[in-house]
Amino acid sequence: MRKTLLAMTSLVALGFGVNAAAAEEQVEVLHWWTSGGEAKALTVLKDNLQKEGVGWQDMPVAGGGGDAAMTVLRTRVTSGNPPTAAQMLGFDITSWAEQGALGDLTSIATKENWDKVIPAALQKFSKYDGKWIAAPVNVHSTNWIWINKALYDKAGAPAPKDYDGFIAMLDKFKAAGVTPLAIAGQGMDEMTLLDSVTLSTGGLDFYKKAFVDLDQASLGSDTMKKIFERMVQLRGYADANIEGRNWDQATAMVIKGEAGVQAMGDWAKGEFRSASKKPGEDFVCLRFPGTQGMVTFNSDQFAMFKVGADRQDAQYKLAAAVEDPKFQSAFNVVKGSVPARTDVPDTDFDACGKKGMKDLAEANEKGTLVGSLAHGHAAPPAVKQAVTDVVVKLFSKQITPEQAVKELPEAVAAAQ
Ligand code: GAL
Repeated sequence: MRKTLLAMTSLVALGFGVNAAAAEEQVEVLHWWTSGGEAKALTVLKDNLQKEGVGWQDMPVAGGGGDAAMTVLRTRVTSGNPPTAAQMLGFDITSWAEQGALGDLTSIATKENWDKVIPAALQKFSKYDGKWIAAPVNVHSTNWIWINKALYDKAGAPAPKDYDGFIAMLDKFKAAGVTPLAIAGQGMDEMTLLDSVTLSTGGLDFYKKAFVDLDQASLGSDTMKKIFERMVQLRGYADANIEGRNWDQATAMVIKGEAGVQAMGDWAKGEFRSASKKPGEDFVCLRFPGTQGMVTFNSDQFAMFKVGADRQDAQYKLAAAVEDPKFQSAFNVVKGSVPARTDVPDTDFDACGKKGMKDLAEANEKGTLVGSLAHGHAAPPAVKQAVTDVVVKLFSKQITPEQAVKELPEAVAAAQ
């Protein structure tokens, strides 16, 4: 009896647990989906893979926008132990591909016709040197506002059509005695606001010149100064406790009626949904005032690392599961994003999701779709970091808009 127990104990210690089927395939996935809505969305994928006999080894690294996750990832890869896949944004994927760390999904992508159904704007990041290196999960966009419907009705502000209309709405909330704008004290939150304020203030061409072409004159222009002034103005509509607040806590303020509105990407909608709130009844989604017709997008992709032959099959299964059209619908309905494939029907999406899909398709067609700087799709990681540093200093009142507009071109040039 004792011998049997000892033998069983050592088997368990070796990993042959009673529950873990010895032959089960595993994927280890690093990601930053740790908020309520994000975690629910991820469960859809975990469950689908489980049905295919693929186990999920979770590697969550909290921190909206994924900066902390990218730091942890670097340590893992440089120590020669990459995960099967990592959630990644735009230019981060390209940067890992340049370092030769990513695997090759081309065989499965060709078999399943990804070239036909994934838009070119995403393929730019999913492919490197003609090879598929990442599987796009979704498309988010950053130029949204999320309004508490009851407070909105009570405040009696008309739907804001431009930046001035937005300020008029914030003033109405203030007059009604509510915190007008829910802001989180994170670089990601402030940068997300910068995407929208830039697009609203400077328009599409300015956004592209400043954040995509990294044109020095635009970065140091009067328009940029005005954008920084507006950032400071908006900061003035927040409460005093933004330091250390996460983006989802700011969303919760709007959900609970503690603040009127949040300017945030559509991952915020995942939080409303997770709290059983309905668009049109409990909350209102609008494009950031002055940006209707334009979309600043970011796409979460699972970048696939080079893995040994023993982990290859599970990695392919993960990639196939992510591009399954049924998964694309089920996951994105919960996440607040829209499908990465163009052939997924909008039937199961709520009104904001349907609007997101329509806006994306139209912007793609009209050429008004542009990558989000805040979320890695406009410029390389070092440039995004350089802009973040300036914006964080501006937001915490260490520098004025005048100083910020002087520092920005220099910081961006140094980061290139
Ligand atoms: C974005 C990401 C979203 C969401 C958000 C907040 O960068 O694309 O999926 O997770 O960060 O963490």
